[in-house]
Amino acid sequence: MRVYTKRLLIAIVCLLLIWLVTLYSSMIEVPRSLLEAHDVQNMEKRIEILHQELNYQKVQTNQLKIKLEEVKSAQEARGININDDELGRVDDFDSPLILPILVMACDRVTVERCLDNLVKYRPDKTIFPIIVSQDCDHNATYHVIKKFTDSDPSINVVKQPDQSVIPLPRAKVKFVGYYKIARHFKFALNYVFNTLGYEAVIIVEDDLDISPDFYEYFLGTYSLLVQDPSLWCISAWNDNGKPDVIDMSTPELLHRTDFFPGLGWMIRKHTWMKLESKWPPAFFDDWLRNPENTEGKACIRPEISRTYTFGKVGVSKGLFFENHLKTNVLNKQFVEFTKLDLNYLLKKFYDPSLDTLLDSMPTTTIEELEDMRAGTVPVKLTYLNSKSYQHQARMLGLMDDFRSGVPRTAYRGIVTCKYRGRRVYLAPAFRWEKYDPSWG
Ligand code: UD1
Ligand code: MN
Repeated sequence: MRVYTKRLLIAIVCLLLIWLVTLYSSMIEVPRSLLEAHDVQNMEKRIEILHQELNYQKVQTNQLKIKLEEVKSAQEARGININDDELGRVDDFDSPLILPILVMACDRVTVERCLDNLVKYRPDKTIFPIIVSQDCDHNATYHVIKKFTDSDPSINVVKQPDQSVIPLPRAKVKFVGYYKIARHFKFALNYVFNTLGYEAVIIVEDDLDISPDFYEYFLGTYSLLVQDPSLWCISAWNDNGKPDVIDMSTPELLHRTDFFPGLGWMIRKHTWMKLESKWPPAFFDDWLRNPENTEGKACIRPEISRTYTFGKVGVSKGLFFENHLKTNVLNKQFVEFTKLDLNYLLKKFYDPSLDTLLDSMPTTTIEELEDMRAGTVPVKLTYLNSKSYQHQARMLGLMDDFRSGVPRTAYRGIVTCKYRGRRVYLAPAFRWEKYDPSWG
C-alpha cells in the first residue's frame, strides 16, 4: 500500500510538472528570430492595416462630430433647441460632397507655411478635411504637423510606413528622390481612396501656397470632372503663368489642357483605380504627361495659377525654380467659381468653339507680330514641326519643352497665351490628330 501511495504521489508530481511546463511555454513570447521572416512581415502588415483602419475611424468620427456641431449651431441660430439624442438620428441628408486635401510632406518644416494657408482660406472643415501624409521619418517636420493635428480634429496625419532603401543601379542613384516621391504618392493615394474611402482628393505638396479662391476653384470645377469623361484631372497650375503671357484681367478664365500641370490637382477615385496598378516607380508627373497612361484625357487649368511653389530647395534643384517657377503669378482675386457657368469647358462645347474661333482668326507670323503694335485682336501663329514650335514659343516667352511630344499647356496641339495685350494661339499648320512622342 505504501508503495502504491508513493507511486501515485510520483505520478501526480510528474503530471503537475508537465502541466506547469505546458502552461509556461504557452505564456512566454516566442522569440522573433524563431519565427519565419515572412510571418513577421505578415504580422507587421496586419498591424499597419489595423493602424490605418484606426486612423480611418478617427477621421470619420471627427467628420461626424464637426457635421453634428454645425447642424446644432445652425438649429440654435434658428431658435430650435435640439438635443444630442435627436442629433444622433440626423443622418439621412444627401451624402455631402467631401473633397479632402492631401498634403504631401517629407523633411521640410516649412510645411507650416503651406498648412497655415490651407487653414486660413479653408471655408468649410467638413467639405475639406486635411490629411497630411508624411514620408522621410523626419521628426522636426512631424512635430510641426502635430501642432496642427492636435488643435484641429479635421486635420490628420499619416506616416508613409515603407522607409526601406530603394535598390537602384549606380546610374540611377541620383534619381532616388523621384523614386521615393512616386512610392509616397502611391501610398498616400491608396490611403485616401482605399483606406479612408473618399471619392475624390485634392493633392497639395508641402511647398505650395494657395490662392484665396483655391477651395472655391476645386468646388466649382468638381462637377466638370464628374460630368465629362474626357477629363481626368483639375489642376490649379498654369505652366505658362508668368505675368507677361497671361491675361490678368480674367481670373475667371479656365482652359482645357493635355499637359498634366500638377502643383495642386484633383482626381477621382475611379481614375486612381486605373492608374494605381500601373503606377511608375519614379517620375510620376512626367508619366502622367504621357497620353497613353491617361487614355488621352485632358485636365482643366486656370489662366492665372491658384498655387505658387516656394520650394526652391527640393528634389529637382533650383535652376528650374529661378527660370520658371519663381515668376509664376499666384491669383489674388476671389472668383466665385461655384456660381459661374463652366459648361464651356465640356469637350462637346469647347472643341467645336475652339475650332470655329481658330478658323475665323487672322494668321500671322512671329516676325510680323513682333512688328505689330500692341492690340486686342486675337491672332493665330502656326507651326509645322518641333523646331518651329519651339522657336515661336521662345519668342512669345513661353516654356518650349515637351513631354511625350506634348508641349506645355497644349490642348490638341494648340497653345494659347497673351502677347502685348493680344490673345495669341500657336496652332499646328497641319491637321492635328495626335502628339508625336519623338518631339522634344
Ligand atoms: C518635382 C515637381 C513635383 C512632383 C515631383 C515628382 C515641380 C515644381 N515639382 O518635385 O510637383 O511631384 O517632381 O517627380 O515641378 N517628397 C516625398 N519624399 C521624398 C522627397 C519629397 O514625399 O523623399 C515630397 C515632398 O514633400 C513634396 C513632393 O514630394 O511634397 C515634391 O518634392 P520636392 O522636393 O518639392 O521636389 P520637386 O523638385 O518640386
Ligand atoms: Mn517642390
